[in-house]
Amino acid sequence: MAKRTLRVGYPGNYREIEVDSPDAEPAPWDADSKLAVVGKRSPRLEGADKVTGKAKYTADVKLQGMLVARVLRSPYARATARSIGLAKALKMPGVKAAIEVEKEARYHGQAIAAVAAETEAQAEDAVAAIEVDWAVGEHVVDVEAARKPNAPRVHGGKNPNERGGEAQNTATEEACVTALKKSHATVDITFTTPVVTHSCLESHGSVARWESDGSLTVWDSTQSIFGVRDGLARGFQLPAEKVRVVKEHMGGGFGSKLGMGQHSMIAARLAREAKAPVKLMLTRKEEHLAGGNRPSSVQRVRAGADKDGKLTCLWLQSHGTGGINGGANCAGPLMSLYNCPVRRLWHADVITNASPAAAFRAPGHVQGMFALESTMDELAGKLGLDPIEFRKRNDQNEMRQAEYGEGAKMAGWEARAHLPNSGGRHKARGLGVSASIWGGGGAPGAQARCVISRDGAVEIQCGTQDIGTGTRTIIAMIAAEELGLKPEQVLVKLGDTTLPFSHGSGGSMTAPSVTPAVRAATAAARGRVFEACAKSLKADADNLTAKGGNVVAKGGASIPWAEACSKIAGANVSEQATRAQNFRGYKDGTAGCQFAEVEVDLETGHVQVLRVVAVHDCGRVVNPLLAESQINGGIIQGLSYALLEQRILDDATGRMMNANFSDYRIAGPKEIPEISVVLFDVSNGRTNTGVMGIGEPPIVPTPAAIANAVAHAIGKRITDLPITPDKILAALGKK
Ligand code: MOS
Repeated sequence: MAKRTLRVGYPGNYREIEVDSPDAEPAPWDADSKLAVVGKRSPRLEGADKVTGKAKYTADVKLQGMLVARVLRSPYARATARSIGLAKALKMPGVKAAIEVEKEARYHGQAIAAVAAETEAQAEDAVAAIEVDWAVGEHVVDVEAARKPNAPRVHGGKNPNERGGEAQNTATEEACVTALKKSHATVDITFTTPVVTHSCLESHGSVARWESDGSLTVWDSTQSIFGVRDGLARGFQLPAEKVRVVKEHMGGGFGSKLGMGQHSMIAARLAREAKAPVKLMLTRKEEHLAGGNRPSSVQRVRAGADKDGKLTCLWLQSHGTGGINGGANCAGPLMSLYNCPVRRLWHADVITNASPAAAFRAPGHVQGMFALESTMDELAGKLGLDPIEFRKRNDQNEMRQAEYGEGAKMAGWEARAHLPNSGGRHKARGLGVSASIWGGGGAPGAQARCVISRDGAVEIQCGTQDIGTGTRTIIAMIAAEELGLKPEQVLVKLGDTTLPFSHGSGGSMTAPSVTPAVRAATAAARGRVFEACAKSLKADADNLTAKGGNVVAKGGASIPWAEACSKIAGANVSEQATRAQNFRGYKDGTAGCQFAEVEVDLETGHVQVLRVVAVHDCGRVVNPLLAESQINGGIIQGLSYALLEQRILDDATGRMMNANFSDYRIAGPKEIPEISVVLFDVSNGRTNTGVMGIGEPPIVPTPAAIANAVAHAIGKRITDLPITPDKILAALGKK
């Protein structure tokens, strides 16, 4: 390890720290680093392929002799298949294989059997011909009904539907009661949020092909090619090297594609049975029924503050359902964001006959922040304090403190009491704020290889995946920076498990995990080029740099990059690096805040979000264009959650009533506000690049900021998401 001094912090607030960084790695970038490529707005390398349709997604994979699969799903929320008759289906035209998947259905949409046929229509007909002798059981889909002692037990026997309870290391109930009694202002509010589905525009899907040597190749729409590889290897009891998973491009995952999906196993099983490649893409209906979801929440928050505006107590009692399994805990923000001497958490997961939850962009935090930040505004109101001032008094994070300042200026916070009103007395405007909080520091172990050829070609090989966030472009930019080249001069190979290992793309981990490995591998390969060409420049390899497409010696002599590479002995140089542990740098989490301005139609109850100002930090920003893209996406998804989305299950049948995009509404062009993004520049000194993740943070504060803006506009608080017109009218007493 080398001791290195770095300047860290943010503009106007820098300090020097010493970090231990691995000897073999290049010196970490810090606030003083002058970079030529990193930090510039650089269009996506695959952008042209995507808009021209040349980019191949899983659905575009077409193989010789490939069959199409379809899945029979349970029409019941709870039923047992006494028998599954495949004989008739197998005799249907074009059908090549049929398999049983599961006999016990615990939710509407659970996979029961599957077929593979030559065409999609044949596969659909064959699914309809499968004969199931159902024994229909008792189900429960309502979260409150499932908590009752006499409710049907979702997992049978004595297993209660409610799991969890007290959290470790929280204050006692008595301590809370005492703290609240002594408080100057208190609130006691119950917030509710619905189950929402991920609604990725590209559905889940796989194409599976068995090779003649008994190995398996799978093209999969996944956030984790190595995760799918390991899952399939376990499922088929194969060594991991016998399974190859490929994923070039992706149309959204948001957490629902982090683990191996059941569809991947089904496609591979059918392919083995049919002795032909099989494609299985889920339909939109299947996505809603079984593609994952964000759990619901019921959060009772009791909170207090003293007359100086300091929090005295935060007490959360919550439950929620993630279906047949899946944690619904959303206490993260309440337990960590603000200073508070007395904090208590009681949480239970409620098991219901509904499809299992999956990680969904900042799991728990979106629900939790809505409740916490609504509570903060209510308390501020009771204390007669400005909402930002009240937050600042309880928040020690200096980055967020500064971010409030930037955001408030852009959002016009000081004119909040006199917002313009275009619609006379039929419309009301409001401006709301919310804090954000997330991790995003990345993890050690990601690997990358840099191969530089004699002709000057540069290839980065990294077994990560670009889930639509721009990872390919980010990798090229990091390598181009090290080599003094342009991003377009770097060929990036990713999305294939034959490449060096990288983690699943979840937890806002990809850029912070991958960039330090790419930089270290590239720097090492560059060192080999310098050694090869040093003689031609009559210089020491140590005195060479790569910039502007040249290799330059200290004295000023230079040769073009390609000429320098022509001195390589052999075909190429190749160096691999593994990302180190995070250094003890400046800050290990990301902060941020958002402001929303809304206009509420007091006659129809319609809420239009006019503008969102988003201030976020994510360490060193590799490419502002991509970072802004993530923030735009998070805000739109958060707005959709706040105003539109909810899965509706019918209590009587247990079926989802809105498993399509006309009844399950997601935000479209008419809902999208003007979005202003401020990328708050932070040098964090945690890795050799200082990059942090920005995938999840931007969805965290949006629903809370919108809810606070609505409350500001109409003077009534909606505590139940989504904020639909009927709730607004009811709050205004117009129903
Ligand atoms: Mo994410 S919910 O970690 O893909």
